Amino acid sequence: MKRVLSGIQPSGQLTLGNYIGAMKHFVAMQEEHDCSFMIVDLHAITVPQEPAALREQSESVAALFVAAGLDPAKANIFMQSHVREHAELGWLLTTMTYMGELERMTQFKDKSSGKESVGAGLFTYPSLMAADILLYQTDLVPVGEDQKQHLELTRDLAGRFNQRYGETFTVPQPLIPKVGARVMSLDDASKKMSKSNPNAGSYIALLDSPDVIRKKISRAVTDSGREVKFDPQNKPEVSNLIAIYSACSALTPQEIEARYEGQGYGPFKKDLAEQVVALLEPIQARYQEVRASGELRRILADGAENARQVAAQTVRTVKERMGFVLD
Ligand code: TYM
Repeated sequence: MKRVLSGIQPSGQLTLGNYIGAMKHFVAMQEEHDCSFMIVDLHAITVPQEPAALREQSESVAALFVAAGLDPAKANIFMQSHVREHAELGWLLTTMTYMGELERMTQFKDKSSGKESVGAGLFTYPSLMAADILLYQTDLVPVGEDQKQHLELTRDLAGRFNQRYGETFTVPQPLIPKVGARVMSLDDASKKMSKSNPNAGSYIALLDSPDVIRKKISRAVTDSGREVKFDPQNKPEVSNLIAIYSACSALTPQEIEARYEGQGYGPFKKDLAEQVVALLEPIQARYQEVRASGELRRILADGAENARQVAAQTVRTVKERMGFVLD
Protein backbone atom coordinates (compact mmCIF):
# COMPACT_ATOMS: atom_id res chain seq x y z
CA MET A 1 0.00 0.00 0.00
CA LYS A 2 1.52 3.30 -1.11
CA ARG A 3 1.03 6.67 0.55
CA VAL A 4 -0.80 9.03 -1.80
CA LEU A 5 -1.39 12.74 -1.32
CA SER A 6 -2.70 15.56 -3.46
CA GLY A 7 -4.45 18.91 -3.15
CA ILE A 8 -6.70 21.35 -4.97
CA GLN A 9 -6.83 25.10 -4.44
CA PRO A 10 -10.16 26.64 -3.43
CA SER A 11 -9.49 29.67 -5.58
CA GLY A 12 -12.58 29.58 -7.76
CA GLN A 13 -15.02 27.15 -9.33
CA LEU A 14 -13.46 23.74 -9.94
CA THR A 15 -13.37 22.83 -13.61
CA LEU A 16 -13.64 19.74 -15.71
CA GLY A 17 -9.85 20.03 -16.07
CA ASN A 18 -9.43 19.58 -12.31
CA TYR A 19 -11.73 16.57 -12.44
CA ILE A 20 -10.16 14.85 -15.44
CA GLY A 21 -6.56 15.68 -14.54
CA ALA A 22 -6.79 15.02 -10.83
CA MET A 23 -9.99 14.24 -8.90
CA LYS A 24 -11.05 11.31 -11.02
CA HIS A 25 -7.74 9.64 -10.21
CA PHE A 26 -8.05 10.47 -6.51
CA VAL A 27 -11.29 8.47 -6.45
CA ALA A 28 -9.72 5.48 -8.20
CA MET A 29 -6.65 5.49 -5.96
CA GLN A 30 -8.54 5.43 -2.66
CA GLU A 31 -9.41 1.76 -3.29
CA GLU A 32 -5.81 0.60 -3.20
CA HIS A 33 -3.72 3.10 -1.31
CA ASP A 34 -3.38 5.09 1.88
CA CYS A 35 -4.74 8.41 0.56
CA SER A 36 -4.91 11.99 1.78
CA PHE A 37 -6.57 14.78 -0.20
CA MET A 38 -6.45 18.38 0.85
CA ILE A 39 -8.19 21.63 0.15
CA VAL A 40 -5.09 23.83 -0.06
CA ASP A 41 -6.43 27.08 1.34
CA LEU A 42 -2.98 28.34 2.37
CA HIS A 43 -1.98 28.15 -1.29
CA ALA A 44 -5.13 29.94 -2.42
CA ILE A 45 -4.16 33.07 -0.48
CA THR A 46 -0.99 33.51 -2.53
CA VAL A 47 -3.25 35.66 -4.69
CA PRO A 48 -5.81 38.04 -3.12
CA GLN A 49 -9.02 36.32 -1.96
CA GLU A 50 -12.21 37.86 -0.70
CA PRO A 51 -12.75 36.28 2.78
CA ALA A 52 -16.39 35.23 2.32
CA ALA A 53 -15.62 33.79 -1.11
CA LEU A 54 -12.60 31.88 0.18
CA ARG A 55 -14.68 30.29 2.93
CA GLU A 56 -17.48 29.36 0.54
CA GLN A 57 -15.10 27.94 -2.07
CA SER A 58 -13.17 25.93 0.52
CA GLU A 59 -16.39 24.26 1.68
CA SER A 60 -17.47 23.81 -1.89
CA VAL A 61 -14.25 21.99 -2.84
CA ALA A 62 -14.55 19.75 0.22
CA ALA A 63 -18.14 18.90 -0.73
CA LEU A 64 -17.08 18.22 -4.33
CA PHE A 65 -14.43 15.79 -3.11
CA VAL A 66 -17.13 13.76 -1.41
CA ALA A 67 -19.66 14.25 -4.22
CA ALA A 68 -17.14 13.03 -6.81
CA GLY A 69 -16.77 9.79 -4.86
CA LEU A 70 -14.10 10.25 -2.23
CA ASP A 71 -15.14 8.21 0.77
CA PRO A 72 -13.96 9.54 4.14
CA ALA A 73 -13.80 5.96 5.39
CA LYS A 74 -11.16 5.22 2.76
CA ALA A 75 -9.38 8.54 2.17
CA ASN A 76 -8.38 11.27 4.56
CA ILE A 77 -9.94 14.60 3.53
CA PHE A 78 -8.86 17.81 5.24
CA MET A 79 -8.20 21.53 5.03
CA GLN A 80 -4.51 22.37 4.77
CA SER A 81 -4.88 25.27 7.24
CA HIS A 82 -6.28 22.91 9.91
CA VAL A 83 -2.90 21.23 10.19
CA ARG A 84 -0.46 23.94 11.21
CA GLU A 85 2.56 21.77 10.45
CA HIS A 86 2.10 22.66 6.75
CA ALA A 87 3.00 26.28 7.45
CA GLU A 88 5.78 25.23 9.80
CA LEU A 89 7.51 22.76 7.48
CA GLY A 90 6.81 25.16 4.61
CA TRP A 91 8.98 27.75 6.33
CA LEU A 92 11.74 25.28 7.15
CA LEU A 93 11.89 24.17 3.51
CA THR A 94 11.71 27.76 2.22
CA THR A 95 15.05 28.35 3.92
CA MET A 96 16.51 25.44 1.94
CA THR A 97 15.10 26.48 -1.44
CA TYR A 98 17.24 28.56 -3.81
CA MET A 99 15.94 31.75 -5.39
CA GLY A 100 17.00 30.45 -8.80
CA GLU A 101 14.83 27.35 -8.39
CA LEU A 102 11.77 29.46 -7.62
CA GLU A 103 12.52 31.93 -10.41
CA ARG A 104 12.42 29.08 -12.92
CA MET A 105 8.89 27.97 -11.99
CA THR A 106 6.58 28.47 -14.95
CA GLN A 107 3.46 28.75 -12.75
CA PHE A 108 5.08 31.70 -10.96
CA LYS A 109 6.07 33.30 -14.26
CA ASP A 110 2.52 32.89 -15.63
CA LYS A 111 0.75 34.13 -12.52
CA SER A 112 3.05 37.09 -11.96
CA SER A 113 3.46 38.28 -15.54
CA GLY A 114 1.96 41.69 -16.19
CA LYS A 115 1.09 42.22 -12.50
CA GLU A 116 2.13 45.46 -10.85
CA SER A 117 2.74 43.88 -7.45
CA VAL A 118 3.15 40.21 -6.65
CA GLY A 119 2.99 38.74 -3.13
CA ALA A 120 6.09 36.96 -1.85
CA GLY A 121 3.90 33.93 -1.10
CA LEU A 122 3.31 33.40 -4.80
CA PHE A 123 7.06 33.11 -5.19
CA THR A 124 7.64 30.71 -2.29
CA TYR A 125 4.48 28.70 -3.08
CA PRO A 126 6.43 25.62 -4.29
CA SER A 127 8.25 25.23 -0.95
CA LEU A 128 4.89 25.05 0.82
CA MET A 129 3.71 22.49 -1.70
CA ALA A 130 6.84 20.44 -1.04
CA ALA A 131 6.02 20.59 2.67
CA ASP A 132 2.46 19.32 1.99
CA ILE A 133 3.87 16.28 0.30
CA LEU A 134 6.91 15.54 2.45
CA LEU A 135 5.04 15.82 5.76
CA TYR A 136 3.31 12.51 5.08
CA GLN A 137 6.21 10.50 3.59
CA THR A 138 4.20 10.44 0.38
CA ASP A 139 5.09 7.92 -2.33
CA LEU A 140 2.74 9.05 -5.11
CA VAL A 141 1.26 12.43 -6.02
CA PRO A 142 -1.57 12.33 -8.60
CA VAL A 143 -1.57 15.66 -10.45
CA GLY A 144 -2.10 17.18 -13.89
CA GLU A 145 0.80 18.01 -16.17
CA ASP A 146 1.07 21.62 -14.94
CA GLN A 147 2.30 20.47 -11.52
CA LYS A 148 5.21 18.40 -12.80
CA GLN A 149 7.79 21.13 -12.25
CA HIS A 150 6.64 21.62 -8.64
CA LEU A 151 7.03 17.89 -8.08
CA GLU A 152 10.57 18.00 -9.43
CA LEU A 153 11.44 20.71 -6.93
CA THR A 154 9.81 18.66 -4.15
CA ARG A 155 12.00 15.71 -5.06
CA ASP A 156 15.10 17.91 -5.11
CA LEU A 157 14.27 19.35 -1.69
CA ALA A 158 13.69 15.89 -0.23
CA GLY A 159 17.04 14.74 -1.58
CA ARG A 160 18.81 17.89 -0.39
CA PHE A 161 17.43 17.52 3.13
CA ASN A 162 18.26 13.82 3.28
CA GLN A 163 21.79 14.47 2.15
CA ARG A 164 22.38 17.34 4.55
CA TYR A 165 20.69 15.94 7.67
CA GLY A 166 20.35 12.19 7.10
CA GLU A 167 17.55 10.09 5.57
CA THR A 168 14.33 11.76 6.65
CA PHE A 169 11.95 12.12 3.71
CA THR A 170 10.53 9.71 1.18
CA VAL A 171 11.27 11.04 -2.31
CA PRO A 172 7.82 11.19 -3.97
CA GLN A 173 6.85 10.35 -7.55
CA PRO A 174 4.33 12.34 -9.59
CA LEU A 175 1.50 10.34 -11.15
CA ILE A 176 0.35 12.10 -14.31
CA PRO A 177 -2.50 10.56 -16.33
CA LYS A 178 -1.90 9.50 -19.95
CA VAL A 179 -5.10 11.09 -21.26
CA GLY A 180 -6.41 14.36 -19.85
CA ALA A 181 -3.29 15.54 -18.00
CA ARG A 182 -3.72 18.90 -19.70
CA VAL A 183 -7.29 19.76 -20.61
CA MET A 184 -7.24 22.93 -22.70
CA SER A 185 -9.54 25.95 -22.86
CA LEU A 186 -12.67 25.70 -24.98
CA ASP A 187 -11.91 29.06 -26.59
CA ASP A 188 -8.20 28.53 -27.20
CA ALA A 189 -6.44 25.17 -27.22
CA SER A 190 -3.06 26.77 -26.61
CA LYS A 191 -4.07 27.61 -23.01
CA LYS A 192 -4.98 25.16 -20.27
CA MET A 193 -8.54 25.11 -18.99
CA SER A 194 -8.43 27.17 -15.83
CA LYS A 195 -10.84 28.41 -13.20
CA SER A 196 -9.00 31.73 -13.14
CA ASN A 197 -9.75 32.52 -16.80
CA PRO A 198 -12.06 35.59 -16.83
CA ASN A 199 -13.99 34.14 -19.80
CA ALA A 200 -16.38 31.60 -18.22
CA GLY A 201 -17.02 30.18 -21.69
CA SER A 202 -13.45 28.88 -21.72
CA TYR A 203 -14.07 26.28 -19.03
CA ILE A 204 -16.74 23.91 -17.81
CA ALA A 205 -17.27 24.31 -14.09
CA LEU A 206 -18.19 21.12 -12.24
CA LEU A 207 -21.31 22.91 -10.99
CA ASP A 208 -22.43 24.31 -14.36
CA SER A 209 -26.04 23.41 -15.15
CA PRO A 210 -26.71 20.99 -18.05
CA ASP A 211 -27.91 23.85 -20.26
CA VAL A 212 -24.82 25.91 -19.61
CA ILE A 213 -22.63 22.88 -20.38
CA ARG A 214 -24.47 22.31 -23.67
CA LYS A 215 -24.11 25.95 -24.63
CA LYS A 216 -20.41 26.10 -23.78
CA ILE A 217 -19.63 22.97 -25.78
CA SER A 218 -21.68 24.08 -28.77
CA ARG A 219 -19.69 27.34 -28.77
CA ALA A 220 -16.31 25.67 -28.26
CA VAL A 221 -13.83 26.68 -30.94
CA THR A 222 -13.14 24.02 -33.59
CA ASP A 223 -10.44 23.85 -36.25
CA SER A 224 -11.09 24.48 -39.91
CA GLY A 225 -12.38 21.50 -41.90
CA ARG A 226 -15.05 19.19 -40.52
CA GLU A 227 -13.24 15.97 -39.75
CA VAL A 228 -13.32 14.61 -36.18
CA LYS A 229 -9.69 13.61 -36.03
CA PHE A 230 -7.32 13.26 -33.07
CA ASP A 231 -4.28 15.18 -34.26
CA PRO A 232 -3.05 17.53 -31.50
CA GLN A 233 -0.42 19.07 -33.80
CA ASN A 234 -2.67 20.08 -36.68
CA LYS A 235 -6.13 20.01 -35.07
CA PRO A 236 -5.54 21.17 -31.48
CA GLU A 237 -9.09 22.39 -30.78
CA VAL A 238 -10.90 19.25 -31.91
CA SER A 239 -8.23 17.03 -30.36
CA ASN A 240 -8.86 18.72 -27.02
CA LEU A 241 -12.58 17.97 -27.33
CA ILE A 242 -11.82 14.37 -28.26
CA ALA A 243 -9.55 14.06 -25.21
CA ILE A 244 -12.39 15.36 -23.01
CA TYR A 245 -14.82 12.92 -24.63
CA SER A 246 -12.37 10.08 -24.06
CA ALA A 247 -11.84 11.00 -20.41
CA CYS A 248 -15.63 11.17 -19.81
CA SER A 249 -16.41 7.88 -21.57
CA ALA A 250 -14.83 4.48 -21.93
CA LEU A 251 -13.78 5.21 -25.53
CA THR A 252 -10.27 5.81 -26.83
CA PRO A 253 -9.61 8.77 -29.16
CA GLN A 254 -9.39 6.32 -32.09
CA GLU A 255 -12.78 4.80 -31.27
CA ILE A 256 -14.25 8.30 -31.11
CA GLU A 257 -12.76 9.17 -34.51
CA ALA A 258 -14.29 6.03 -35.98
CA ARG A 259 -17.69 6.73 -34.47
CA TYR A 260 -17.95 10.20 -36.05
CA GLU A 261 -16.25 9.48 -39.35
CA GLY A 262 -17.85 11.52 -42.13
CA GLN A 263 -20.35 13.18 -39.77
CA GLY A 264 -18.71 16.55 -39.12
CA TYR A 265 -18.45 18.41 -35.84
CA GLY A 266 -22.18 18.89 -35.09
CA PRO A 267 -23.18 15.38 -33.96
CA PHE A 268 -19.83 14.94 -32.21
CA LYS A 269 -20.25 18.09 -30.13
CA LYS A 270 -23.83 17.22 -29.29
CA ASP A 271 -22.85 13.80 -27.96
CA LEU A 272 -19.85 15.24 -26.14
CA ALA A 273 -22.14 17.64 -24.29
CA GLU A 274 -24.35 14.71 -23.24
CA GLN A 275 -21.32 12.74 -22.05
CA VAL A 276 -20.23 15.64 -19.86
CA VAL A 277 -23.77 16.21 -18.55
CA ALA A 278 -24.11 12.50 -17.72
CA LEU A 279 -20.80 12.62 -15.85
CA LEU A 280 -21.56 15.76 -13.86
CA GLU A 281 -25.29 15.44 -13.09
CA PRO A 282 -24.90 12.75 -10.40
CA ILE A 283 -21.94 14.61 -8.88
CA GLN A 284 -24.03 17.78 -8.71
CA ALA A 285 -26.97 15.98 -7.08
CA ARG A 286 -24.70 14.43 -4.47
CA TYR A 287 -23.01 17.80 -3.95
CA GLN A 288 -26.33 19.37 -2.94
CA GLU A 289 -26.96 16.51 -0.50
CA VAL A 290 -23.53 16.80 1.08
CA ARG A 291 -23.84 20.56 1.53
CA ALA A 292 -27.30 20.22 3.05
CA SER A 293 -26.39 17.33 5.37
CA GLY A 294 -23.84 19.19 7.49
CA GLU A 295 -21.58 16.11 7.41
CA LEU A 296 -18.56 18.06 6.12
CA ARG A 297 -17.66 19.50 9.49
CA ARG A 298 -17.11 16.07 10.97
CA ILE A 299 -15.33 14.71 7.90
CA LEU A 300 -12.88 17.61 7.97
CA ALA A 301 -12.36 17.41 11.73
CA ASP A 302 -11.57 13.69 11.54
CA GLY A 303 -9.33 14.23 8.51
CA ALA A 304 -7.31 16.95 10.21
CA GLU A 305 -6.98 14.88 13.37
CA ASN A 306 -5.54 11.92 11.45
CA ALA A 307 -3.25 14.15 9.42
CA ARG A 308 -1.89 15.97 12.47
CA GLN A 309 -0.66 12.76 14.06
CA VAL A 310 1.66 12.03 11.14
CA ALA A 311 2.56 15.66 10.42
CA ALA A 312 3.54 16.48 14.01
CA GLN A 313 5.89 13.52 14.14
CA THR A 314 7.58 14.52 10.87
CA VAL A 315 8.08 18.12 11.96
CA ARG A 316 9.54 16.97 15.26
CA THR A 317 12.05 14.77 13.51
CA VAL A 318 12.93 17.52 11.04
CA LYS A 319 13.47 20.09 13.80
CA GLU A 320 15.57 17.69 15.77
CA ARG A 321 17.77 16.91 12.75
CA MET A 322 18.15 20.61 11.91
CA GLY A 323 19.34 21.41 15.40
CA PHE A 324 16.35 23.07 17.04
CA VAL A 325 15.92 22.76 20.82
CA LEU A 326 12.76 20.64 21.08
CA ASP A 327 9.88 21.70 23.32
P1 TYM B 1 -4.74 23.40 -8.79
O1 TYM B 1 -5.66 23.76 -7.70
O2 TYM B 1 -4.39 24.44 -9.80
O3 TYM B 1 -5.31 22.17 -9.60
C1 TYM B 1 -5.70 20.98 -8.92
C2 TYM B 1 -5.34 19.77 -9.77
O4 TYM B 1 -6.00 19.84 -11.05
C3 TYM B 1 -5.05 19.71 -12.09
N1 TYM B 1 -5.48 20.55 -13.22
C4 TYM B 1 -5.62 20.11 -14.47
N2 TYM B 1 -5.44 18.90 -15.02
C5 TYM B 1 -5.68 18.79 -16.35
N3 TYM B 1 -6.08 19.82 -17.12
C6 TYM B 1 -6.27 21.05 -16.63
N4 TYM B 1 -6.67 22.06 -17.38
C7 TYM B 1 -6.04 21.24 -15.23
N5 TYM B 1 -6.14 22.31 -14.39
C8 TYM B 1 -5.79 21.87 -13.17
C9 TYM B 1 -3.74 20.20 -11.50
O5 TYM B 1 -2.63 19.70 -12.19
C10 TYM B 1 -3.84 19.69 -10.08
O6 TYM B 1 -3.42 18.35 -10.01
N6 TYM B 1 -0.23 23.46 -6.62
C11 TYM B 1 -1.43 22.67 -6.80
C12 TYM B 1 -2.13 22.36 -5.51
C13 TYM B 1 -1.29 21.71 -4.46
C14 TYM B 1 -0.86 20.35 -4.47
C15 TYM B 1 -0.16 20.19 -3.24
C16 TYM B 1 -1.00 19.29 -5.36
C17 TYM B 1 -0.83 22.27 -3.31
N7 TYM B 1 -0.16 21.35 -2.55
C18 TYM B 1 0.40 18.94 -2.91
C19 TYM B 1 -0.42 18.07 -5.01
C20 TYM B 1 0.27 17.90 -3.79
C21 TYM B 1 -2.38 23.47 -7.68
O7 TYM B 1 -2.30 24.66 -7.81
O8 TYM B 1 -3.41 22.75 -8.21
